[in-house]
Amino acid sequence: MKMSSFTAKNVDKETDGGNISVSSIAKAYTDASMSNSFLDTKSGMKIDDMSKHMTALKNYQQEGQLLVAKQIVNNVLNKNCNIQDKFRFADLGCGIATDLEFWQNEFQTFSPTKSLELHGVDLMNEILKTAKKNLPEAMFWHKDLKDGLGFFESNSLDVIHCRRVLIHLPNAEDLIHEMIRVLSDGGYGILVEGELDTGTLHTEDDRLKKVENSIRLDKFVANPNPASKAYRILKVLEIEGQIKNVQIRQELISLILDQQSFDPCLKMTRGRLSKQMEAGVITEEDIEYFINKLEQAPRTGDPFTSGLMFVISFEKC
Ligand SMILES: C[S@@+](CC[C@H](N)C(=O)[O-])C[C@H]1O[C@@H](n2cnc3c(N)ncnc32)[C@H](O)[C@@H]1O
Repeated sequence: MKMSSFTAKNVDKETDGGNISVSSIAKAYTDASMSNSFLDTKSGMKIDDMSKHMTALKNYQQEGQLLVAKQIVNNVLNKNCNIQDKFRFADLGCGIATDLEFWQNEFQTFSPTKSLELHGVDLMNEILKTAKKNLPEAMFWHKDLKDGLGFFESNSLDVIHCRRVLIHLPNAEDLIHEMIRVLSDGGYGILVEGELDTGTLHTEDDRLKKVENSIRLDKFVANPNPASKAYRILKVLEIEGQIKNVQIRQELISLILDQQSFDPCLKMTRGRLSKQMEAGVITEEDIEYFINKLEQAPRTGDPFTSGLMFVISFEKC
């Protein structure tokens, strides 16, 4: 296959019974529900030890989010949330509880006297075992968010947070409705999502760009641009009077100067490249060229990667 036609070939949306579109990465999460490893046979993304991978990403992921998150906590505590004697907080798609730990710390710093009820929800059981070790005082739920939040009563939470998960949900709108249902009046919803089309590989090297284009994740996720989609959905609900103060703010994804900081030996990247080679989109020589450049990148500065994330927040009326 010629390089110019790879985009169409890689598009990987499937039909799930009716009209709902699922992605291969969403399916890979479902397949990994009872294990610690992750394999997307379509994109070639493979992670042998998901807990270890998420632990390695911990500092890298938080670097760019602290400012916006702290502003929101400040708002939640001081102005906008009708909180009585304890906070009831849930993180959807909580992974190893990185964000729960962050929010717990922020809450306690701002308001040491209030007690906290923390909930984490995730599809991967083995990930939740690590989450429990990291934060034993929280309650964890092994659930598929595609099935909604039936395990939470209506009006039972003060804050619901969900980061980098809507991208994997074909029915994002349903989850947003569920978030609103379980929030108490005046409660806060916070979504943190990237827009995949803002991801940029900074280089003037056309061969690098072409190879990178072949492995972009847009083609394998359920919602490539979940932040703008969520914002549009929430603005409609705001007009309908169900929620208020819908805001979108921008935050930076940390620059990726050294891909190996979260992908040792570029193992995960190699797997994704191999899939594209099998599909005839790139050659073995392209892979060697790309890998070599990535290995040298911390020294040469060519390439590096940047992108945007957005924090979307709202209050229940
Ligand atoms: C990219 S990770 C983000 C983890 C964490 N929120 C963060 O930002 O570091 C996506 C998380 O969502 C979980 N997840 C994916 N699909 C899910 C689903 N349908 N239901 C529940 N959790 C899901 C995964 O197991 C994983 O822990």
